[in-house]
Amino acid sequence: MDKPINVTRPLLAPLEEVTHYLKTVWESGVLTHNGPLLRQFESELMNKLNLPYCSVLVNGTVALQVAIKALNLKGEIITTPFTWVATASAINWEGCTPVFCDIDASTLNIDENKIESLITDKTVAIMPVHVFGSACNVNKIDAIAKKHDLKVIYDAAHAMGTLFEGKTVLEHGDISVISLHATKIVNCGEGGACFTLSEETDSRIKRIRFFGLNDNKEIVEDGLNGKTTELHAALGLANLKYFDQALVDRKRKYLKYKELLSANEDITFQKINDGQTNYSYFPVILPSEKLLLRVKKVLNDNQVFPRRYFHPSVNTYSKIVNYMPAPVSEDISKRIMCLPMSFYIKENEMEMICKIILSELRK
Ligand SMILES: Cc1ncc(COP(=O)(O)O)c(C=O)c1O
Repeated sequence: MDKPINVTRPLLAPLEEVTHYLKTVWESGVLTHNGPLLRQFESELMNKLNLPYCSVLVNGTVALQVAIKALNLKGEIITTPFTWVATASAINWEGCTPVFCDIDASTLNIDENKIESLITDKTVAIMPVHVFGSACNVNKIDAIAKKHDLKVIYDAAHAMGTLFEGKTVLEHGDISVISLHATKIVNCGEGGACFTLSEETDSRIKRIRFFGLNDNKEIVEDGLNGKTTELHAALGLANLKYFDQALVDRKRKYLKYKELLSANEDITFQKINDGQTNYSYFPVILPSEKLLLRVKKVLNDNQVFPRRYFHPSVNTYSKIVNYMPAPVSEDISKRIMCLPMSFYIKENEMEMICKIILSELRK
């Protein structure tokens, strides 16, 4: 058993497969500025996901910011409080205001039935999150947006590989944003990507990530530096080869955890629909925060490090957002943690983790 067992371990292709790509960087001398490896990485992502446009950026947070800017949003954006802080901070950084819509207690995604009551004349968009890779009710959300003439940006940070009605969930919304951070199912160290079905939106994203320069090298709008290096693209290309394998592996491990833990009535699981998740995380919800902290401590004592994810509920970050009650999210975020999950975790390690949890819950 490899200890410590952290909540995740980044997938890394064999070094020689990364150096194969790195060699081409040394040969071309091109390190950045929309280089050949970045273009190849974007093209392979589009082929894999069967989507027409993709822009890779430095990270998922900047990709969310650029997505907001590319759609010219200024005003209130309805989002979920059960997310990583980056969802709200990207909204803040673009001069918009996050408005928190509570979540569904079983799916942990934004409660689409509560969205409409939050729409005001300042609302410009909805930004839901496919929490832990499990698809939101995209049909309903897209219909609400259409009815009220709002844009939709899906924070799909966790959702690479998630399908909805047999196709990638990333085709929904005006823009879907994934994270390619080290902890995600496919990573390039730090990275993110915007997917859209609109050529115009994609060119705007590409312009904004490159200082606002057009093809004639004129500054035509306020951009930033969101470009990715060839070194990151090299890692992304090598890792992407393991994506299909990682998806199959995640599902098998998800089902294994579930089988080992489902006999215990104290544990609840996120409600997921088969075919609408990539199984990339394994969250468990316990009856109380006290019990969660007790179980977490015993795991930590055994060199196992689950993560309280997402905690606390983002609507309570009083230094960066105006508090709005979201009782379901606030409650669940206190009682949820993600168990270790990665391409490398072994079955006997998962069994040991579950044994510790079950024995603590029996006390
Ligand atoms: C839901 C969610 N949104 C956005 C992000 C930000 O992505 P990145 O870390 O690539 O900036 C994360 C990162 O974990 C996330 O979990």
